[in-house]
Amino acid sequence: MSGHRFDTRAIHDGHENFSPDSMSTPIYQSVAYPYFDAKEAAEIFTGARPGYTYGRWDNPTVEVFEKRMAALEQTDAAIATGSGMAAILLLGHQFLEPGDEFVSSNRVYGGTFGLFDTGFRKMGIKVNWVTTPESLGTWAAAVTPKTKFIYVESPSNPGLFIADLPALSQLAKQHNIPFIVDNTICTPALQQPTSFGADIVIHSVTKYISGNASSLGGIICGPNEVIDGIRGGCMRYLGPSMAPFNAWLSLNGLETLSLRMERHCSNALAVARFLEQHPLVESVNYPGLSSNPYHELGERQMSGFSSLMSFVIKGTYDDAVTIIDGLKVMIHATHLGAAKTIVTHPASTTHSAMGPAELKKAGIPPTLIRLSIGLEDEADLIADLEQALARVQSATPAAAGT
Ligand SMILES: Cc1ncc(COP(=O)(O)O)c(C=O)c1O
Repeated sequence: MSGHRFDTRAIHDGHENFSPDSMSTPIYQSVAYPYFDAKEAAEIFTGARPGYTYGRWDNPTVEVFEKRMAALEQTDAAIATGSGMAAILLLGHQFLEPGDEFVSSNRVYGGTFGLFDTGFRKMGIKVNWVTTPESLGTWAAAVTPKTKFIYVESPSNPGLFIADLPALSQLAKQHNIPFIVDNTICTPALQQPTSFGADIVIHSVTKYISGNASSLGGIICGPNEVIDGIRGGCMRYLGPSMAPFNAWLSLNGLETLSLRMERHCSNALAVARFLEQHPLVESVNYPGLSSNPYHELGERQMSGFSSLMSFVIKGTYDDAVTIIDGLKVMIHATHLGAAKTIVTHPASTTHSAMGPAELKKAGIPPTLIRLSIGLEDEADLIADLEQALARVQSATPAAAGT
């Protein structure tokens, strides 16, 4: 790490000593690196001499992104992956053997839920779900002698649950196991989980870091022994590496991350305040609201509340559909963290793998609508929501009063 402050690191770290130098990090669109002679190849492969070997686990452009992310998350090292899900899969492969267990909150992205519940089960691994993650006692009760790590997504998608990171880190330390945090929603610009005791931080780089829905990516930030183990082990066998062009796009994203997150946060707060007072809205999940149960905890751990939120309407699934289909500025898609505001219906799309019973346990009813607030003018976003909500109010006048 350079020792500079966050915004300077986000623009410079990892690129220093790049040769030949250039303002924009070059895209090394190559899978292999010719050697001067056999001795040089052998030395690079044993690590006796610096150099690159094969694009599935090392590439100069991707390396700049990895070093910058490690600097921002304050870890020894990082390894970039082809997607956020690939990062989570590699962690599982690194730490788990058949017969092992791990503990996770059930407030996770639907793909993560599917991987833990179905994908890992196929490999003989058991997830012990914590279904009341606000209670530290339930986390402690879920840990067994077979538990290999504790995993949490904070804030979570789409319910915006916020975990007590220092308390979970303490629990993991008591059992001498790693504490892993998915920091996708905050990004390191708003929350650095290692400051609260996390050992490993992962991201879907696809979201706010990349920032405009143009490229898939993931990253694992952690201690040297874990990152080296993944690079020399499961990354070689499984191969879900980040493409050099996607690393370049993600580096560009990092250069403006702090500025974008400020605007994401202020726009989101304005929208959440509008929704909170709307007669058709039952509840709003946005920890930036002072009425939110996670507000104080969030203030201790985060420097901003990001822009993912969800709200439950008074009405039916059909009313939720009327609102989603009626939005004109907001884009209906299964994504988050982009410059464009996105509306999603999690129960039928991103989280459908959970099934009705698990959706209920995770607090995702069919009347819940998720918003990822973008960088547009906040007044246009509020006006868009106002006209879409009015469609339900005019169709069923009684709903507004109930
Ligand atoms: C919090 C979180 N983690 C991980 C992922 C998976 O990331 P990717 O889509 O890049 O595989 C997502 C995707 O929506 C997510 O929201």
